[in-house]
Amino acid sequence: MVGEAQERIAIESDADVVTARQRARQLAIGLEMPSTDQTLLATAISEVARNITAYAERGEVLLELIRDGRGRRGIRVIAHDEGPGIADVERAMTDGYTTGGGLGLGLPGARRLVDEFEIETAPGAGTTVTLVKWTR
Ligand SMILES: Nc1ncnc2c1ncn2[C@@H]1O[C@H](COP(=O)(O)OP(=O)(O)OP(=O)(O)O)[C@@H](O)[C@H]1O
Ligand SMILES: [Mg+2]
Repeated sequence: MVGEAQERIAIESDADVVTARQRARQLAIGLEMPSTDQTLLATAISEVARNITAYAERGEVLLELIRDGRGRRGIRVIAHDEGPGIADVERAMTDGYTTGGGLGLGLPGARRLVDEFEIETAPGAGTTVTLVKWTR
């Protein structure tokens, strides 16, 4: 996978979450992704960025245009924070698990909305969620 362009968005407020969502949609439009896929990606980004403001206070979202070995294009999102991390990530990925009084659907929902999903986290070591959506 080769990265082509990058954009970094600091996440500290709800307005930053909206910015990340909008910038991702613009990149998706640039790749001529179907509007349904634009929305799925934008929604997944909203969830992981909202988790940054909710649990880590601040962090960042990195948006990258990527291309695989066959020339297929896509968008990679890396949502990173240096907040408290997640002790039981398997549980956090389960529908309905929340420590914040939410619905507990953000992470498992985001996983279902994209083509590739990875989470790296540990207590005290922050959280990094990587999402990829490919063009079809
Ligand atoms: N960036 C993060 N840093 C620390 N903990 C996190 C982070 N993201 C998620 N978590 C933990 O994982 C749990 C599940 O997250 P998820 O987004 O699925 O649900 P939620 O945020 O609780 O509710 P919802 O997103 O449905 O409003 C959270 O309650 C929180 O304990
Ligand atoms: Mg959430």
